[in-house]
Amino acid sequence: MAKRIDVGELTAYYGSHRAIDGITLHVEPESVTAFIGPSGCGKSTFLRTLNRMHEVTPGGRVEGKVMLDNEDLYGPGVDPVSVRRTVGMVFQRPNPFPTMSIYDNVAAGLKLNGIKYRKSELDDIVEKNLRAANLWNEVKDRLNRPGSGLSGGQQQRLCIARATAVEPEVLLMDEPCSALDPISTLAIEDLIDKLKTRYTIVIVTHNMQQAARVSDRTAFFNLAAIGEPGKLIEVDATEKIFSNPSVQATEDYISGRFG
Ligand SMILES: Nc1ncnc2c1ncn2[C@@H]1O[C@H](COP(=O)(O)OP(=O)(O)O)[C@@H](O)[C@H]1O
Ligand SMILES: [Mg+2]
Repeated sequence: MAKRIDVGELTAYYGSHRAIDGITLHVEPESVTAFIGPSGCGKSTFLRTLNRMHEVTPGGRVEGKVMLDNEDLYGPGVDPVSVRRTVGMVFQRPNPFPTMSIYDNVAAGLKLNGIKYRKSELDDIVEKNLRAANLWNEVKDRLNRPGSGLSGGQQQRLCIARATAVEPEVLLMDEPCSALDPISTLAIEDLIDKLKTRYTIVIVTHNMQQAARVSDRTAFFNLAAIGEPGKLIEVDATEKIFSNPSVQATEDYISGRFG
């Protein structure tokens, strides 16, 4: 079940460096929200606060709230590992486990769950998620070959299948197409469009056409100067952001008058 994300006054630090400041944002379930903004404004940092990956970086800490429906992800007693299972992540560079087969890559997260699956159950889960990732037909005859033998676009779809196999409620994607060719990029965009019927999706992209193509809502982040923390400038329907944003800085950014 896709869930709603409510972020309240979220500030994130690396040691004493404040990377993002006071972000309040609602993310709707079963929709795609794009994060755009100049390099260094904290898009990746903010994304990683949404599944408690930020605190894995030495010195990484947050203030504020992230609610997933009614659960406070930073509440006392919440296990960050289970948060990361509920809120899955896909990275900029496809990162399949290189020595693992295609099959084992998809099954990898399930094995960590500690549940014992029958072979036939695992087979079904692997097939279902590879089909959902639009990859099944390309790999069904070589499931036991290493994931690293696939093309970049196929590897990224494999990583998406691996992320969905553990049945998350939210999928975070940090520039998932930036290392891919245009055809693979379109394949991933089609896939995102299909996945949003089941997941809450947040995608960071530096490509504004991509944000306009895939997202329902767009959030624009900016920083006052290098070294200053990034802030959320505005969030609205994607159509509105790209046609008639409320804030001049957004207009400047989307029309290329920035920097
Ligand atoms: N691992 C890190 N350690 C220290 N500072 C970091 C680290 N990662 C990012 N930062 C800093 O946090 C700020 C935001 O970076 P980032 O979230 O990567 O921005 P974006 O994804 O928008 O380009 C930048 O000032 C960056 O230098
Ligand atoms: Mg980034």
